[in-house]
Amino acid sequence: MAHFKITGGTPLHGVVAASGSKNAALPMMAAALLADGPVRLQGVPRLDDVDTLSLVLRELGMHVGRHGDDELLLETIDPTPTRARYELVRRMRASFCVLGPLLARRGRAVVSLPGGCNIGDRPVDLHLKGLAALGAGLRLRRGYVVAEAPRLRGATIDLVGPRGPTVTGTANVLTAAVLAKGTTVIGGAAVEPEIVDLGNFLNALGARIEGLGTSTLRIDGVKQLGGTTHRVIPDRIEAATLLLAAAITRGSATVRDAVPDHLTAVLDALRTAGFQIELGDDRVTISAPGRPRPLAITARPYPGVPTDVQAQWTALLCLAPGRSTVQDTVFAHRFLHVAELNRLGARIEHRNATAAITGVDHFTAAQVTASDLRASAALVLAGLAAEGETTVRRVHHLDRGYERLDEKLGRLGARIERRETAITA
Ligand code: UD1
Repeated sequence: MAHFKITGGTPLHGVVAASGSKNAALPMMAAALLADGPVRLQGVPRLDDVDTLSLVLRELGMHVGRHGDDELLLETIDPTPTRARYELVRRMRASFCVLGPLLARRGRAVVSLPGGCNIGDRPVDLHLKGLAALGAGLRLRRGYVVAEAPRLRGATIDLVGPRGPTVTGTANVLTAAVLAKGTTVIGGAAVEPEIVDLGNFLNALGARIEGLGTSTLRIDGVKQLGGTTHRVIPDRIEAATLLLAAAITRGSATVRDAVPDHLTAVLDALRTAGFQIELGDDRVTISAPGRPRPLAITARPYPGVPTDVQAQWTALLCLAPGRSTVQDTVFAHRFLHVAELNRLGARIEHRNATAAITGVDHFTAAQVTASDLRASAALVLAGLAAEGETTVRRVHHLDRGYERLDEKLGRLGARIERRETAITA
């Protein structure tokens, strides 16, 4: 297990590239199960989550190979396996995205329920509701979903849940519907850029999906899909994290290979906080002359500020003079970083899905422990701004979803070292 030693206080400067999107690549890899030809995905980041899903897909009879730095080749070798086991699905919830494609292409899927995770209760009822509407027979057996349907049938489905749309639920139902007989209409679909990218990828395979980027998707089922080559969109969460890292250190940095349109809510909030933002076609530059202004941020489904940058915003606003609030309407319990940020000298109270922040002058270095992917990023950001040497433990959470974040921050001048943690430590 690894930890980071961060010597804070150096403003970040320079240019860094965003990697391909984790949350776009994962459902696309799962959707490759549908294809009857080879699938080349370009811009696939090197992440533990990508490795985990590669293992799941290999056990499902696929060849998954890396070519060069960022290309993944996926091809079905043996179309008979149908089981995705608990040991892998519990490691990464997005593995559950194999359910729709497996069921649609192979007529049967036995996929472990993912269980809870550190950001709270994450049900999959909407995934199952959607697949049932397409005619799947569903049973729960010993912690697994057993889904069966010789051929799915198109249907009209409302996927909206109590806290808005579901991203991977939309992916699961969409990927199942592309091979269903007849037309499917999904209402309350997620409009995240990752879902649009998934839909574009499926259309390139031969699917017939309309309405991408709106909350109503219309899918005319086809009998078969071919192969394709597709480049995954840039990771907007990573890009936002890098911009917030420059902001918290009062530096200036350019994130290239990004899509500024995907970052609108984050960039608006950064401007309101007093930072200067310049946009290019595929890049964003931030200049942070001083501390942020206090702000009220609410994380919402796209096009709102993403819940996946809620923790990083919480870290940044700790240094704003005055009172700020950060509310999360998507995951009410995603606040494990609050106690750790307070160990670094922050003054945050967490109540009712909201972090109420009283700004402090600076963070003070300490040892902190990462609890989940985005909380880890928040602790790294705080460490970059802290006076002295901060240790962030359990950074394997970070490696799940950020491609070499320590190296990218290092290229911007951060003093950050990765070290192996002794077993007894
Ligand atoms: C995806 C992202 C994750 C991001 C989240 C919200 C991937 C691989 N992960 O997760 O990084 O934080 O979207 O943008 O893309 N819900 C239900 N029933 C369901 C499904 C969801 O009630 O069947 C609720 C959830 O508890 C949550 C909300 O709906 O409150 C949104 O969750 P969802 O969009 O499904 O998150 P994920 O797709 O798991």
